[in-house]
Amino acid sequence: MGTTRREFLKSAAFGLGGLRLSRVPFERGSERLPGASRPVVVSSANGLRATERAMEMIRGGADALEAVVAGVNLVEEDPEDTSVGYGGLPNALGVVQLDASVMHGPTRGAGAVAALEGIRYPSRVALAVMRYTDHVLLVAEGAKRFALEFGFKEENLLTDRARTAWLEWRASLSADDDYLTPEESGEPIRGFGLTDAWDGTRTYGTIHCAAVDAAGNVSGVTTTSGLAFKVPGRVGDSPLIGAGLYVDNDVGACGSTGRGEAVMKVCGSMLVVENMRRGMPPTDACLDALGRIVRNTVEKRLLDAGGRPNFNVNFYALNRRGEHGAAAIWSGSRFAVHDGERSEIRESAYLSRGGRG
Ligand code: GLY
Repeated sequence: MGTTRREFLKSAAFGLGGLRLSRVPFERGSERLPGASRPVVVSSANGLRATERAMEMIRGGADALEAVVAGVNLVEEDPEDTSVGYGGLPNALGVVQLDASVMHGPTRGAGAVAALEGIRYPSRVALAVMRYTDHVLLVAEGAKRFALEFGFKEENLLTDRARTAWLEWRASLSADDDYLTPEESGEPIRGFGLTDAWDGTRTYGTIHCAAVDAAGNVSGVTTTSGLAFKVPGRVGDSPLIGAGLYVDNDVGACGSTGRGEAVMKVCGSMLVVENMRRGMPPTDACLDALGRIVRNTVEKRLLDAGGRPNFNVNFYALNRRGEHGAAAIWSGSRFAVHDGERSEIRESAYLSRGGRG
């Protein structure tokens, strides 16, 4: 007969289950780590406000995960940011589908949602998955049902701007379908007074934010609307633990933005954290993982004339001592950091000089 989880934990508490209580993750919640310094918050370039909010909260005594989630919520709710949450660019059918993950270093906790529709704050739903279930990842209808059960409000996330961008993208697809291209119709699409809402590139969007507090405890979050106009149901790297986010409280944190498919295939964020575990500084750890992505990119459709990836990937890393850095395949990328003194945007390191930001 099987043992229920409740019975197992109970027997473990008495030393009968092969698991000593000292090894149950939530027992580690308040550990003070050697080598800790002042709090540091790192984010992708669209997260300057997130770093400020997170630092303010950490200084006020908040848990680092609460702080970074509150930070990215500012971007998730911003209709002007078309890469995340409310206002994010939709999938090929015009439906906004969101991915997010969180990891909490001190409790070794993780939670994530993928292809979530109708909920503005996927990062908060991921946090609820971590806190209130025995699972790590909920997807699609199940994720939405869970969110509604926990009181999240359902709303239409497709803003007029994102809808117009989608209409423009759809019209541009083919001269053989029944949606007229701008050349055929002779005029731009006008959606609620907006024209030219789409700049012609399919972005991967995303915000990542990670923090280390004064005790050296590390947490992180990654949240996105994913690849613009993706195949419905497509899931990127952001909600996948080890790909778009990885935190190990013994080492540090990493998150990614850019082409999720490339990050997923090398377990990118975990690779960066493992590089740091072996002693690499954060920026070097990111560059090494990007090199792995470049070596693994062999598909002709993904290479430029020089045989280099025709896409970009960014990694953002910090260790428990507060050392931090970011790197991208192509030059021109930036990241946001609050280093304990000020928040600012900095240039990322890169593998190749070029213009893919
Ligand atoms: N990195 C975000 C995505 O690929 O969905």
